[in-house]
Amino acid sequence: MSAGNKIWKKGAVLVTGAAGFIGSHLCRRLLAEGATVRGVDCFLPNYSRKIKEANLIDLITNKAFSFFEEDLYCAPIPKLLKDVGYVLHTAALPGVHKSWGQNFGDYIRNNIAATQLLLDACKGTDLVSLVYISSSSVYGDSKKSPLNERMPTQPVSPYGVTKLAGEHLALLYHQSYQIPVKVTRLFTVYGPGQRPDMAFYRFINTITEGKAVDFFGPPTPARDFTYIDDIVNGILACARFGKPGRIFNLGSGTSQPLDKVITILADIMEEELTINQVGHQMGDMLSTHADISRAKKELDYQPRVKIEEGLRQQTQWQLG
Ligand SMILES: NC(=O)c1ccc[n+]([C@@H]2O[C@H](COP(=O)([O-])OP(=O)(O)OC[C@H]3O[C@@H](n4cnc5c(N)ncnc54)[C@H](O)[C@@H]3O)[C@@H](O)[C@H]2O)c1
Repeated sequence: MSAGNKIWKKGAVLVTGAAGFIGSHLCRRLLAEGATVRGVDCFLPNYSRKIKEANLIDLITNKAFSFFEEDLYCAPIPKLLKDVGYVLHTAALPGVHKSWGQNFGDYIRNNIAATQLLLDACKGTDLVSLVYISSSSVYGDSKKSPLNERMPTQPVSPYGVTKLAGEHLALLYHQSYQIPVKVTRLFTVYGPGQRPDMAFYRFINTITEGKAVDFFGPPTPARDFTYIDDIVNGILACARFGKPGRIFNLGSGTSQPLDKVITILADIMEEELTINQVGHQMGDMLSTHADISRAKKELDYQPRVKIEEGLRQQTQWQLG
């Protein structure tokens, strides 16, 4: 038995949203650690199916990986859960700006209703752990910083409202049906494989094309940017060591003003930077900064990748 099998010995790992940015990275690491991984994804058209298929390319050749193209809203979830010990629920429709207006129905369907169906199917199973992947967007514009898990939640986007509803459902199923649910709140994740609608991906493309970068503000937004490998470490530690019913912030524990980060990016790319100042976007939080002391203490979580190194990795991947 490999060292990995000893880690994930209590059954297969079901990763929902396996073709997505974070889900595919989780699958890759789990396979490297010797786990048997079952991935499910319905290729939502929030971005190109080709990109999502490319995320899966190295995974599907691995014998320990099986992939199911299924929509959790209407999938045979009990079948997917057979012999599963751990569920990492990353599947969701992400993005704050598009969550206003008519699109909100899609957010309710994929982020709330599909989550409830997954949780319902977990009743009476022998799961060791179910990690619900939530977001810093549940906090909204708090006056206090850094944000800790005990602070009130007041999302400023419809997307944030759906992620918070998902958290409530997950914790309700834990309370009512003893499903071993843990919640992780992720702060802006970046690195190779980042979604094409996310800021760094767009900035890298725009700078390469010699165009002006749209910069939202004033005030200048600041974000807690977390490198994908650190997030993967945190989610897997949560699956193994997190106490059921607990919420954990997973961030870098620092907050970077966006203008500084764009300058670092242009320096790495050795390109001229032109800024196009556009106003504040509805739904954007002004600033995010994670207090990660709980995850450090209870999960031994320790983010390691500095923004300069992480941006270099993403730039190399994106332009390579
Ligand atoms: N990327 C970030 O910075 C960030 C920050 C905070 C929280 N999150 C959360 O992390 C998770 C993953 O985000 P991501 O950036 O990898 O997004 P992503 O869009 O790359 O991945 C999500 C995947 O889920 C799939 N999916 C959605 N609804 C589904 C359904 N009903 N059935 C099956 N598959 C479905 C999509 O097709 C997609 O491939 C999401 O829950 C998101 O809310 C992400």
